Amino acid sequence: MEERMVSAEAQGLEDSLEQSVRPHDLKHYIGQEKVKKNLEVFMEAAKMREECLDHVLLYGPPGLGKTTLSAIIAAEMGVQMRTTSGPAIERPGDLAAILTALEPGDVLFIDEIHRLNRMVEEVLYPAMEDFCLDIVIGKGPTARSVRLDLPPFTLVGATTRAGMLSAPLRDRFGVMARLEYYKEEELALIVKRTADIFETEINDEAASEIARRARGTPRIANRLLRRVRDFAQVQGDGIITLDLAKHSLQELQVDRLGLDHIDHKLLYGMIEKYRGGPVGLETISATIGEEAETIEDVYEPYLLQIGFIQRTPRGRVVTAACYEHFGLEVPKS
Ligand SMILES: Nc1ncnc2c1ncn2[C@@H]1O[C@H](COP(=O)(O)OP(=O)(O)OP(=O)(O)O)[C@@H](O)[C@H]1O
Ligand SMILES: [Mg+2]
Repeated sequence: MEERMVSAEAQGLEDSLEQSVRPHDLKHYIGQEKVKKNLEVFMEAAKMREECLDHVLLYGPPGLGKTTLSAIIAAEMGVQMRTTSGPAIERPGDLAAILTALEPGDVLFIDEIHRLNRMVEEVLYPAMEDFCLDIVIGKGPTARSVRLDLPPFTLVGATTRAGMLSAPLRDRFGVMARLEYYKEEELALIVKRTADIFETEINDEAASEIARRARGTPRIANRLLRRVRDFAQVQGDGIITLDLAKHSLQELQVDRLGLDHIDHKLLYGMIEKYRGGPVGLETISATIGEEAETIEDVYEPYLLQIGFIQRTPRGRVVTAACYEHFGLEVPKS
């Protein structure tokens, strides 16, 4: 899931920058302690039994480190990771081609796994369960099914929407790990680590300031750091101080809770046009001109997390905490 619609070229640059700051082992993967601890045990046990790790489902909002963690699992298990995504696998044959090309023990990473189509999913079930493929040869009354053995592998699925996975698919994952928003201290560590990689000097207060406004999300923390570094280079002496960070974040229209102009547009839209709701997702989408899916996957989870909106059966509602953040009077109901 991408956070913004951007040109393919700009996206390519973002991706390669993101790649360059990805941690490569669990030790450098900051936070998510519970998930890490469990995975460590499961990986250790699999290694002791000389088996491959059970299939893993990673879920949670965009930018929290699902792709990164999958690559780390492969590295820690000492195997290759093959990467694909739900929408990229159009036909059962596409999946069969990927599965038969795996080496024993490999990690197959399927991003956006909730977008696999039903026919492909059905090929995946026996592959996950018994490491085999059922292929139908011929047509009509002479058609018969043959079983093809696959090398054992670990499927790592990633999704921002675990709820959209079909039950039979979900049930075939032995490990389910939900990634949580990061704490400010953890994000500050991530910011400092990334600054180190960029060979940029940053002091602790500045790192905390960026962390505080990163919406609990490492990807956003790293992105804010890159922009603040630009300000430091052009308007300062290259060193990121607290003042410089504050000034840059203000220029970037990121407020003290990390809400940006789209969050503002969304919340103000609900407040001004619908008296704070309840208002349906589609209506919000039409009002502010952002895709409903983007709102639901990217913006809403954090606003729900900080208690600025609530979901009710009749739609989304802006909370008193949100009115207060904007210095507005809470309407009487
Ligand atoms: N625990 C972590 N420690 C350090 N850096 C992290 C951590 N998690 C994520 N990052 C950084 O955040 C960036 C985004 O992570 P990643 O691409 O793995 O997120 P994702 O969950 O796969 O997002 P999406 O749902 O959009 O695919 C990466 O560049 C990585 O460097
Ligand atoms: Mg990803």
